[in-house]
Formats: sequence, C-alpha cells, structure tokens
Amino acid sequence: MTRYTVVARALHWIMAALIIANLVLGFAHEALPRDWGVMPLHKSIGLTVLALTVCRIVWRLTHRPPFLPKEMPGWEKSAAHVTHLAFYALMLVVPLSGWIMTSAGSRPLTWFALFDVPKFAVGREDALTSLAHESHELLPWLWSALLLLHIGAALRHHLVLKDDVLRRMT
Ligand code: HEM
Repeated sequence: MTRYTVVARALHWIMAALIIANLVLGFAHEALPRDWGVMPLHKSIGLTVLALTVCRIVWRLTHRPPFLPKEMPGWEKSAAHVTHLAFYALMLVVPLSGWIMTSAGSRPLTWFALFDVPKFAVGREDALTSLAHESHELLPWLWSALLLLHIGAALRHHLVLKDDVLRRMT
C-alpha cells in the first residue's frame, strides 16, 4: 500500500483547514469586532473538529497507514510518530477544553446556530474550568509550533528528498 485511503486523505485536509482557521480566529478574536460573530463561529468549527477527530481515531485504528520509506532514518520515523500522536492529543484536548470553558459561562452554545449543544456541569470557580482555560491558552501555541514543524518536514520530503511522503496524503 503506497497511499492513505481516500477517507484518511479527506479527513486530513478538511481538518487541516478547520484547525488552521480556528487557530487564526482564536488568536485574532480580541482584535476583531465583536459583532462579526467570530467566537460563535470559532466554537462551532472547534466542535466540528472534535467530532471529526473521533471519526478519524476510529478510522486510524481500523486502517493501517502506508509504511514510511525504508531509507528514512529511525530518529525521523520516531519524530514523525511522536508529532502525529501529539496532534491526536491536541485535536481532543484543545476543543474539549474550549467546550468546558464555554460551559462555565452563561451564553448559550450552538452549532452554527442550527441546534443547541449541551454544556458540561461546571462552574466558573471549578478547578477543571481553570485547567481548561490554561490549556486552551497554552496548547494552541504548542500546536502552532508543531504544525510548522510538520509542514516543514512534509515540504522537505517533497522538495529536497523528493520522496513520496507528501504524495501519499494528496
Ligand atoms: C480546533 C479547535 C480549537 C482551536 C485550534 C482553538 C484555538 C483557540 C485559540 C488560539 C484561542 C486564543 C487563546 C489565547 O491566546 O487567548 C482560543 C480562544 C477561545 N476558544 Fe478556542 N479553539 C478550538 C476549539 C474551541 C471550542 C470547541 C470552543 C468552545 C466550544 C472554544 C472556545 C474558545 C473561547 C471561549 C476562547 C476565548 C478565551 C478567552 O479569550 O478567554 N474553542 N481558541
């Protein structure tokens, strides 16, 4: 097998677009006018990412990805595996922490204004709410740094090493 399945490729690129959009919206939200509705959009995109992550984990566990090139050094394979594992953790923890944080507030939570999303039973002063707040502020920076590394590595394989690593996902 030389390529990822069509489902894995679709999930990868749709989620990449949604995650990058949400990092930008999250970092920029304070500078943007409130009446643009940036935060409701941010929350809806984030909940979509969480739902797609569950699908993606199920797909990943039931479908073996293509093997990495034999000539790839061991350290590089390990670095790729650790980064990918970190992405799965971030795709779960960042949206979940946003959801917990929002649950402690009084505003209703909807998915693209189409239906109400239930909230967790947490209060503003709960330890879980502060942990969620801290995580939601710090982890997106780690995520952005790992994304740059991931994109850099993919481009290096494609443009410098000229192997099939990026093409397997396109
Ligand atoms: C892919 C998923 C997500 C990403 C990448 C993401 C990213 C971010 C980023 C970068 C910030 C700015 C943090 C800062 O520097 O202050 C932020 C803020 C925020 N996010 Fe998310 N987020 C995601 C999902 C969610 C979800 C699912 C919700 C709620 C349902 C949510 C609610 C919020 C709220 C309320 C803030 C404002 C925090 C504040 O200003 O106090 N996020 N997010």
